[in-house]
Amino acid sequence: MSAKPLAPGARRFSTAPMMDWSDRHCRRFWRALTRHSLLYTEMVTTGALIHGDRQRFLAYNDEEHPLALQLGGSLPEELAQCARFAEELGYDEVNLNVGCPSDRVQNNMIGACLMAHPQLVRDCLAAMRDACDIDVTVKHRIGIDDQDSYEHLRDFVGVVQESGVTTFIVHARTAILAGLSPKENREIPPLRYALVHRLKLDFPQLEIILNGGLKTHEECEQQLQHLDGVMLGREAYHNPSVLMSADQRYFGSDHSSDTSIEGRKQAIRSLYPYIEQQLQQGAVLHHISRHMLGLFNGEKGARLFRRHLSEQAHKRTSGIEVMEEALALVSEPQPA
Ligand SMILES: Cc1cc2nc3c(=O)[nH]c(=O)nc-3n(C[C@H](O)[C@H](O)[C@H](O)COP(=O)(O)O)c2cc1C
Repeated sequence: MSAKPLAPGARRFSTAPMMDWSDRHCRRFWRALTRHSLLYTEMVTTGALIHGDRQRFLAYNDEEHPLALQLGGSLPEELAQCARFAEELGYDEVNLNVGCPSDRVQNNMIGACLMAHPQLVRDCLAAMRDACDIDVTVKHRIGIDDQDSYEHLRDFVGVVQESGVTTFIVHARTAILAGLSPKENREIPPLRYALVHRLKLDFPQLEIILNGGLKTHEECEQQLQHLDGVMLGREAYHNPSVLMSADQRYFGSDHSSDTSIEGRKQAIRSLYPYIEQQLQQGAVLHHISRHMLGLFNGEKGARLFRRHLSEQAHKRTSGIEVMEEALALVSEPQPA
């Protein structure tokens, strides 16, 4: 597989790396809703790739491109090795996680705690760049604990860019490393978009992608007036129909996707060959359908759709017919 950098503008709209959520089934589903948005995997640690079942951790479906692998780690030589794996397997980008605040990863020097060690982050990214020809990027917070001033952020980026990395994905919240759970760390520290805008003014040559709290296309488009791209996490997961207009809005596609209820049902039906194949290989319907529960949010029958899947899809015997039964519970709004 020959590596080539992503085209300019490929990161205007992306979905966030999310452990347990943005797995390959989820990404395959999202790909039925948006052709061009850049998708990120869950974080995979270098230890898991080097000592664990690498094939399993790195497996994906060809349809998922453009696709970025997110790594967690802090040893330059291990990250370099894993960046090579990413390239060999045809990923379009490899990203380093410097934003995750969980205790488990802090103990291994992974994630947001690395913001206190900009030189190490620089060396990790430089080693990754040396090891592969695909794009290397970094995702980080605006600060950690009391190191949360703009000057800290500017100095961090100033050092890290010496690695040659030019794409910075910034989750616009400080991470509180002691005292808040990862979930609280996505909710409690305030969003400070202005700091990210300032970063772009100070580093105009860098590609700066904003992440955190974005829900609507109006918000995204407003941010794109200041920044190079936006990344959606929880909203993409809980309300995946938001992905259906991304191609037209951000990637100049002239194909308008059908966001009607019927259009959304068709998107799910287009996955039936994939679902059948996965079931034959031992997956349970729930592994795939759990990511679809929000597709009809707010529509008539959405609750019944979710309930039917939640009750039926975990059974080993459940197949496409359960999906069809669930879809039949959602109906088009009646004209007034
Ligand atoms: C369930 C879950 C798992 C996450 N796992 C990761 C991860 O593996 N790597 C990472 O960089 N961020 C992870 N995040 C953080 C998201 O990538 C994103 O930065 C955060 O949710 C803020 O964006 P949002 O407001 O659009 O959701 C996770 C978030 C959630 C909700």
